[in-house]
Amino acid sequence: MKVYHKKAELSGYLNEHLKGAKELGLVPTMGALHKGHLSLIETALKNNDIVVVSIFVNPTQFDNQDDLTKYPRTLKTDIDLLKSLNSDAIIIYAPAVEDVYGEDINAETFSFDGLEFEMEGAFRKGHFDGVGTIVKRLFEIVKPSNAYFGEKDFQQLQIIKKLVALHQLPVKVIGCSIYRSDDGLALSSRNARLTKAHREIAPFIYKTLKSAKSMFGTKSAKQVTEWVEKQFKKQPLLELEYFTIADVLTLKPIKRKSTKKTYRGFIAVYAGDIRLIDNIALN
Ligand code: PAJ
Repeated sequence: MKVYHKKAELSGYLNEHLKGAKELGLVPTMGALHKGHLSLIETALKNNDIVVVSIFVNPTQFDNQDDLTKYPRTLKTDIDLLKSLNSDAIIIYAPAVEDVYGEDINAETFSFDGLEFEMEGAFRKGHFDGVGTIVKRLFEIVKPSNAYFGEKDFQQLQIIKKLVALHQLPVKVIGCSIYRSDDGLALSSRNARLTKAHREIAPFIYKTLKSAKSMFGTKSAKQVTEWVEKQFKKQPLLELEYFTIADVLTLKPIKRKSTKKTYRGFIAVYAGDIRLIDNIALN
């Protein structure tokens, strides 16, 4: 498996191997890979001749220094997991911070038509400027034809689509469905840091989202939201940060239900120190 730590070397390889009209896929990750990431890579492998998997814990998207320090860095295990996919088409780009940022480890400031102020943007200041900065840079370095992002981070996916549209970047952004463990918990690199008790209770998040979805057919958004809030009040191990029903395009909280619009329920929950997010299509 080819692993590049320097963008110049990666570009050299890609220039040589992308002669002709070949499709190049990019799957950006921060490593600590799990089956959720692998599902994106498998989708990418179906439609591309070469798939670059970037593994980079991006410092500019962390609003919490402690979270950045504690973020798992497991390159060797990540490489082994990618080897298990048995594909010569996968190339790993695992740069050091300097290779991406040089001396200036700062985020650019973006406008994403207001998508950046909702939900995760409201609770994690500067987060989406950091995400926009790294993803735009990865697009410039790798020059993919297709880039794959999970619906697990639905707001991020919509923001990347907006980034591409506003900056007219020549890449197709593909959203991939949420990969869950058998008990319903959405896979996340953070799950490994849950205590046993928190891990056991965490599937409650998706269970509640599914109930919210069935209620949404007959109840108002306000009733569903209040019901969700009440469920979490009864759950001492989990602390609800927000549950919001929002329009998938604007990400603005729903005002009055319209059959012409598509909605999702978005949730952020603390399980001890660990912040978990999830979402579900409602209609
Ligand atoms: P990371 O959290 O490592 O996730 C990398 C990609 O995997 C994202 O597109 C994310 O939505 C997707 N993903 C994670 N868990 C998933 C799951 N259970 N099912 C489906 N997809 C899942 O998101 C980031 O990294 C960073 O913000 C990044 C885009 C790499 C920029 O630094």
